Amino acid sequence: MEVATYNYSKKGVYNLNSILEAIISRRSIRNFTKKKVEDDKINSILKAAIWAPSGLNNQPWKFIVIENENTIQSLSKLTHYEKVVKNSPLLIAVFLDSDESYNFVKDVQAIGASIQNMLLASFEMELGSVWLGEILNNKYEVHKLLDTPENFELMAIVALGYPVNKEQKSTRKNLHEVVYYEHYQSKVV
Ligand SMILES: Cc1cc2nc3c(=O)[nH]c(=O)nc-3n(C[C@H](O)[C@H](O)[C@H](O)COP(=O)(O)O)c2cc1C
Repeated sequence: MEVATYNYSKKGVYNLNSILEAIISRRSIRNFTKKKVEDDKINSILKAAIWAPSGLNNQPWKFIVIENENTIQSLSKLTHYEKVVKNSPLLIAVFLDSDESYNFVKDVQAIGASIQNMLLASFEMELGSVWLGEILNNKYEVHKLLDTPENFELMAIVALGYPVNKEQKSTRKNLHEVVYYEHYQSKVV
Protein backbone atom coordinates (compact mmCIF):
# COMPACT_ATOMS: atom_id res chain seq x y z
CA MET A 1 0.00 0.00 0.00
CA GLU A 2 1.29 3.43 -0.89
CA VAL A 3 0.99 6.23 1.69
CA ALA A 4 0.80 9.96 0.92
CA THR A 5 0.60 12.89 3.31
CA TYR A 6 -1.19 16.19 3.03
CA ASN A 7 1.93 18.33 2.84
CA TYR A 8 0.49 21.82 3.07
CA SER A 9 2.24 22.59 6.35
CA LYS A 10 5.65 21.56 5.09
CA LYS A 11 5.90 23.20 1.72
CA GLY A 12 3.22 25.82 1.37
CA VAL A 13 0.81 24.70 -1.28
CA TYR A 14 1.34 27.71 -3.49
CA ASN A 15 4.73 26.24 -4.33
CA LEU A 16 3.57 22.89 -5.52
CA ASN A 17 5.75 21.91 -8.41
CA SER A 18 3.21 20.18 -10.50
CA ILE A 19 -0.37 19.13 -10.93
CA LEU A 20 0.74 15.58 -10.25
CA GLU A 21 2.22 16.60 -6.90
CA ALA A 22 -1.05 18.30 -5.95
CA ILE A 23 -3.08 15.27 -6.99
CA ILE A 24 -0.99 13.00 -4.81
CA SER A 25 -0.61 15.36 -1.83
CA ARG A 26 -4.26 16.45 -1.53
CA ARG A 27 -6.03 14.81 1.38
CA SER A 28 -9.60 14.87 2.62
CA ILE A 29 -9.79 17.34 5.49
CA ARG A 30 -12.58 17.03 8.02
CA ASN A 31 -11.64 19.60 10.69
CA PHE A 32 -11.77 23.30 9.93
CA THR A 33 -11.06 26.52 11.78
CA LYS A 34 -13.85 29.06 12.02
CA LYS A 35 -12.08 31.45 9.61
CA LYS A 36 -14.27 32.52 6.70
CA VAL A 37 -13.13 31.45 3.25
CA GLU A 38 -12.50 34.63 1.28
CA ASP A 39 -14.94 35.37 -1.55
CA ASP A 40 -12.21 35.46 -4.19
CA LYS A 41 -11.14 31.97 -3.14
CA ILE A 42 -14.74 30.73 -3.31
CA ASN A 43 -14.96 32.17 -6.82
CA SER A 44 -11.71 30.51 -7.87
CA ILE A 45 -12.97 27.16 -6.55
CA LEU A 46 -16.21 27.54 -8.51
CA LYS A 47 -14.27 28.54 -11.59
CA ALA A 48 -12.18 25.39 -11.27
CA ALA A 49 -15.42 23.42 -11.03
CA ILE A 50 -16.93 24.79 -14.23
CA TRP A 51 -13.74 24.22 -16.20
CA ALA A 52 -14.08 20.47 -15.75
CA PRO A 53 -14.71 18.53 -18.94
CA SER A 54 -18.23 17.32 -19.71
CA GLY A 55 -19.77 15.22 -22.47
CA LEU A 56 -20.64 17.44 -25.45
CA ASN A 57 -19.57 20.25 -23.13
CA ASN A 58 -23.10 20.16 -21.69
CA GLN A 59 -21.98 21.38 -18.23
CA PRO A 60 -24.77 19.61 -16.35
CA TRP A 61 -23.80 20.95 -12.92
CA LYS A 62 -25.30 23.50 -10.57
CA PHE A 63 -23.81 24.67 -7.29
CA ILE A 64 -25.26 26.19 -4.14
CA VAL A 65 -22.74 28.00 -1.94
CA ILE A 66 -23.71 27.85 1.72
CA GLU A 67 -22.19 29.95 4.48
CA ASN A 68 -25.28 30.61 6.58
CA GLU A 69 -24.73 29.03 10.00
CA ASN A 70 -28.35 27.96 10.45
CA THR A 71 -28.41 26.23 7.08
CA ILE A 72 -25.11 24.49 7.85
CA GLN A 73 -26.49 23.30 11.21
CA SER A 74 -29.64 21.98 9.54
CA LEU A 75 -27.65 20.17 6.85
CA SER A 76 -25.39 18.62 9.48
CA LYS A 77 -28.43 16.84 10.96
CA LEU A 78 -28.94 15.04 7.64
CA THR A 79 -25.68 13.09 7.63
CA HIS A 80 -23.74 10.64 9.68
CA TYR A 81 -20.84 13.13 9.22
CA GLU A 82 -22.65 15.71 11.33
CA LYS A 83 -19.46 16.91 13.04
CA VAL A 84 -17.69 17.56 9.74
CA VAL A 85 -20.57 19.58 8.33
CA LYS A 86 -21.38 21.43 11.55
CA ASN A 87 -17.86 22.79 11.87
CA SER A 88 -17.41 23.82 8.24
CA PRO A 89 -17.50 27.52 7.44
CA LEU A 90 -18.38 26.77 3.83
CA LEU A 91 -20.35 24.09 2.02
CA ILE A 92 -20.82 23.75 -1.71
CA ALA A 93 -23.77 21.56 -2.65
CA VAL A 94 -23.38 20.07 -6.11
CA PHE A 95 -26.36 19.13 -8.25
CA LEU A 96 -27.07 17.47 -11.54
CA ASP A 97 -29.45 19.70 -13.49
CA SER A 98 -31.64 17.24 -15.42
CA ASP A 99 -32.64 20.05 -17.80
CA GLU A 100 -29.02 20.02 -19.03
CA SER A 101 -28.60 16.26 -18.99
CA TYR A 102 -27.97 14.12 -22.08
CA ASN A 103 -26.65 10.88 -20.62
CA PHE A 104 -26.92 10.14 -16.91
CA VAL A 105 -23.64 8.23 -16.55
CA LYS A 106 -21.63 10.80 -18.51
CA ASP A 107 -23.26 13.67 -16.65
CA VAL A 108 -22.41 12.11 -13.30
CA GLN A 109 -18.84 11.52 -14.49
CA ALA A 110 -18.54 15.17 -15.49
CA ILE A 111 -19.84 16.26 -12.11
CA GLY A 112 -17.26 14.02 -10.44
CA ALA A 113 -14.57 15.77 -12.45
CA SER A 114 -15.90 19.16 -11.38
CA ILE A 115 -15.83 18.10 -7.73
CA GLN A 116 -12.25 16.85 -8.02
CA ASN A 117 -11.31 20.20 -9.59
CA MET A 118 -12.79 21.95 -6.53
CA LEU A 119 -10.82 19.74 -4.14
CA LEU A 120 -7.58 20.44 -6.01
CA ALA A 121 -8.23 24.18 -6.31
CA SER A 122 -8.98 24.44 -2.60
CA PHE A 123 -5.81 22.52 -1.79
CA GLU A 124 -3.79 24.94 -3.90
CA MET A 125 -5.24 27.84 -1.91
CA GLU A 126 -4.25 26.41 1.49
CA LEU A 127 -7.80 25.27 2.18
CA GLY A 128 -8.93 21.84 3.24
CA SER A 129 -11.94 20.11 1.76
CA VAL A 130 -13.81 16.85 1.74
CA TRP A 131 -16.26 15.31 -0.71
CA LEU A 132 -19.34 14.19 1.22
CA GLY A 133 -21.47 11.50 -0.35
CA GLU A 134 -23.18 9.91 2.64
CA ILE A 135 -25.62 12.82 2.83
CA LEU A 136 -27.13 11.55 -0.44
CA ASN A 137 -29.07 9.12 1.75
CA ASN A 138 -31.12 12.17 2.71
CA LYS A 139 -31.02 13.99 -0.61
CA TYR A 140 -34.75 14.77 -0.63
CA GLU A 141 -34.45 16.53 2.72
CA VAL A 142 -31.49 18.47 1.35
CA HIS A 143 -33.54 19.48 -1.71
CA LYS A 144 -36.30 20.67 0.58
CA LEU A 145 -33.99 22.59 2.87
CA LEU A 146 -32.28 24.34 -0.05
CA ASP A 147 -35.54 24.87 -1.89
CA THR A 148 -34.21 23.45 -5.14
CA PRO A 149 -36.31 23.04 -8.29
CA GLU A 150 -37.48 19.59 -9.49
CA ASN A 151 -34.72 19.35 -12.06
CA PHE A 152 -31.92 19.50 -9.43
CA GLU A 153 -30.57 16.23 -8.04
CA LEU A 154 -28.00 16.31 -5.25
CA MET A 155 -24.68 14.70 -6.23
CA ALA A 156 -22.52 15.64 -3.25
CA ILE A 157 -21.73 18.30 -0.73
CA VAL A 158 -18.18 19.57 -0.48
CA ALA A 159 -17.19 20.90 2.94
CA LEU A 160 -14.38 23.44 2.93
CA GLY A 161 -12.38 25.64 5.27
CA TYR A 162 -8.95 26.29 6.68
CA PRO A 163 -7.59 23.00 8.00
CA VAL A 164 -6.95 22.42 11.70
CA ASN A 165 -4.92 19.28 11.20
CA LYS A 166 -2.43 19.61 8.38
CA GLU A 167 -0.94 16.15 8.63
CA GLN A 168 -3.56 13.88 7.12
CA LYS A 169 -2.41 10.61 5.57
CA SER A 170 -4.07 8.30 3.12
CA THR A 171 -3.20 5.13 1.28
CA ARG A 172 -3.76 3.66 -2.14
CA LYS A 173 -3.50 0.15 -3.51
CA ASN A 174 -0.35 -0.46 -5.49
CA LEU A 175 -0.55 -0.06 -9.25
CA HIS A 176 -0.05 -3.76 -9.85
CA GLU A 177 -3.26 -4.48 -7.95
CA VAL A 178 -5.42 -2.37 -10.25
CA VAL A 179 -3.70 -2.04 -13.62
CA TYR A 180 -3.44 -4.55 -16.44
CA TYR A 181 -1.46 -4.08 -19.60
CA GLU A 182 -2.85 -5.00 -22.98
CA HIS A 183 -5.19 -7.66 -21.58
CA TYR A 184 -6.56 -8.90 -18.28
CA GLN A 185 -4.09 -11.72 -17.68
CA SER A 186 -1.02 -9.58 -18.00
CA LYS A 187 1.23 -9.18 -14.96
CA VAL A 188 2.87 -5.90 -14.05
CA VAL A 189 6.43 -6.36 -12.88
C1 LIG B 1 -17.99 9.65 -3.97
C2 LIG B 1 -17.30 9.97 -2.66
C3 LIG B 1 -18.04 10.03 -1.48
C4 LIG B 1 -17.43 10.34 -0.28
N1 LIG B 1 -18.20 10.48 0.84
C5 LIG B 1 -17.62 10.82 2.02
C6 LIG B 1 -18.42 11.04 3.16
O1 LIG B 1 -19.66 10.97 3.14
N2 LIG B 1 -17.80 11.36 4.32
C7 LIG B 1 -16.43 11.50 4.40
O2 LIG B 1 -15.94 11.82 5.46
N3 LIG B 1 -15.65 11.32 3.31
C8 LIG B 1 -16.22 10.99 2.13
N4 LIG B 1 -15.43 10.83 1.01
C9 LIG B 1 -13.97 11.02 1.10
C10 LIG B 1 -13.23 9.67 1.11
O3 LIG B 1 -13.41 9.06 2.35
C11 LIG B 1 -11.74 9.92 0.83
O4 LIG B 1 -11.59 10.54 -0.43
C12 LIG B 1 -10.93 8.62 0.85
O5 LIG B 1 -10.93 8.05 2.12
C13 LIG B 1 -9.48 8.83 0.41
O6 LIG B 1 -8.85 9.79 1.24
P1 LIG B 1 -8.17 11.09 0.62
O7 LIG B 1 -9.27 11.92 -0.02
O8 LIG B 1 -7.53 11.82 1.79
O9 LIG B 1 -7.14 10.66 -0.38
C14 LIG B 1 -16.02 10.55 -0.22
C15 LIG B 1 -15.28 10.50 -1.41
C16 LIG B 1 -15.91 10.23 -2.62
C17 LIG B 1 -15.10 10.25 -3.89
